[in-house]
Amino acid sequence: MGKKLYIETVGCQMNMLDSELAVAALRKEGYELVDSPKKADTILFNTCSVRAHAEEKIYSALGRLKHTKSYHPDKIIGVMGCMAQNHQETVFKRAPYVDLVLGPGQLHQLPELLQDIQTNGGRRIEVSLDRRAASRKTVEASFESYDPLRDPQMRPTPYQAFVRIMIGCDKFCTYCIVPKVRGPEQSRSPEEIELEVKQLAAEGCREITLLGQTVNSYKVRSNGQTVRLSDLLVRLHEIPGIDRIKFVTNYPNDMRADLVEAVRDLPKCSPYFHVPAQSGCNEVLKGMRRGYTVEMYRDMLAMIRDRIPEAAITSDFIVGFCGETDASFEKTMQLVREARFKNSFIFKYSPRPGTKGADQLPDDIPDAVKKERNNALLAVQNQISEEDNQPFIGTQAEILVEGPSKTSQKRGESGHSLQLTGRTTCDRIVVFDGNPRQIGQILPVRIYDANAFTLFGSVITDHVGPQLFQLGRVPSPSS
Ligand code: 5AD
Ligand code: SF4
Repeated sequence: MGKKLYIETVGCQMNMLDSELAVAALRKEGYELVDSPKKADTILFNTCSVRAHAEEKIYSALGRLKHTKSYHPDKIIGVMGCMAQNHQETVFKRAPYVDLVLGPGQLHQLPELLQDIQTNGGRRIEVSLDRRAASRKTVEASFESYDPLRDPQMRPTPYQAFVRIMIGCDKFCTYCIVPKVRGPEQSRSPEEIELEVKQLAAEGCREITLLGQTVNSYKVRSNGQTVRLSDLLVRLHEIPGIDRIKFVTNYPNDMRADLVEAVRDLPKCSPYFHVPAQSGCNEVLKGMRRGYTVEMYRDMLAMIRDRIPEAAITSDFIVGFCGETDASFEKTMQLVREARFKNSFIFKYSPRPGTKGADQLPDDIPDAVKKERNNALLAVQNQISEEDNQPFIGTQAEILVEGPSKTSQKRGESGHSLQLTGRTTCDRIVVFDGNPRQIGQILPVRIYDANAFTLFGSVITDHVGPQLFQLGRVPSPSS
């Protein structure tokens, strides 16, 4: 019986969380994780549909398994996540040897379906309803939020965890496939979220990142009262053991003062806001149906900076959206120059069939121009990121140590001393020399160098006050 599992995950934090939950559920059934499809009896792809490239990569990976499957017909191949919901039966057409297609709203069925395929053979497809297939309530019910008990071993570090506070999206930006594949916006109850975070704290988790496609639109009626994200932060802030709270991704129009003030007033909340602008040009924003003008976006930035001057703000941009002229692109460059984001993620527009953008507007910007604009915007942003990191040199920061740095992993470092990576509360990456016992700790470091993406620091070893010596505790050399 197939109990060796290989899973490949692409896409956003929601997918990373879904994979963690899926693997946790399968481990309970006796599955063991392996690091290559060759060693596995069950191969799962957790997929993304935000850009065509992400989908094509999965089809290529599936293509490479065609032979494997012909030699080992017992191996089970499953496609789950957004592409499963988006392409449905098409996955079987393009890769007929796939056994399972499972939408993100059907994740809870995974163990049972794999068991069923093992026992009875044949293909299975389980997806949620299309948004216009039935009443809103019925469609909502077909997207199940799957957040069962957690398994800290399944996370990259047990000290950090994603917590889903809502699913779906109702904004329908014209370029975006998410409302179609992740379904209607639905917020989870604060009680359920609180229970989950308490359990994470009991397992040793110190930092939580609350997830939602438009996380600051979070809103539920509970005991006759409206609970928004700001109220939820107050409740989660009370939970002992949790030291840091972050949330992504924010929608500009729903960035209310009460939320920013909650972040300012609650010391565990990171002063970090990922709030994608997508474009700096009103005509393009209108075509995207983002629901705001660049002036409104600027006011929102000013509101954050007025309350939290040191806040780290990051953004996403799409270049080469339908009708984006040189002049409109220059307006985006201007916004990036003046907004001074900590960093920006920049994407070339990729038309997604089934969205208004793809179905009603021509994809009229040549790929070469998209590429050029992407590079130009990235260069401006990188220069700002580098400039904005310089003032940190010589300062002290508290970092949550995440684990060995990428360099350390590449070098295959192990043992007592190695290069570690951690993050400041404003989400800046800090690299320093340390030892494995420091992983999971929050440590003070002195920053001695910086580039656009990384701060370089060294652990401050003299921060342990004399009271600890009086209590008879010998501080470790690292703390
Ligand atoms: N093409 C390119 N980028 C896209 N994004 C979403 N849809 C598309 C698309 N069709 C980007 C947006 C979003 C980020 C997660 O991905 O910038 O904020
Ligand atoms: Fe997509 Fe817009 Fe919803 Fe973000 S807000 S997930 S870009 S539709």
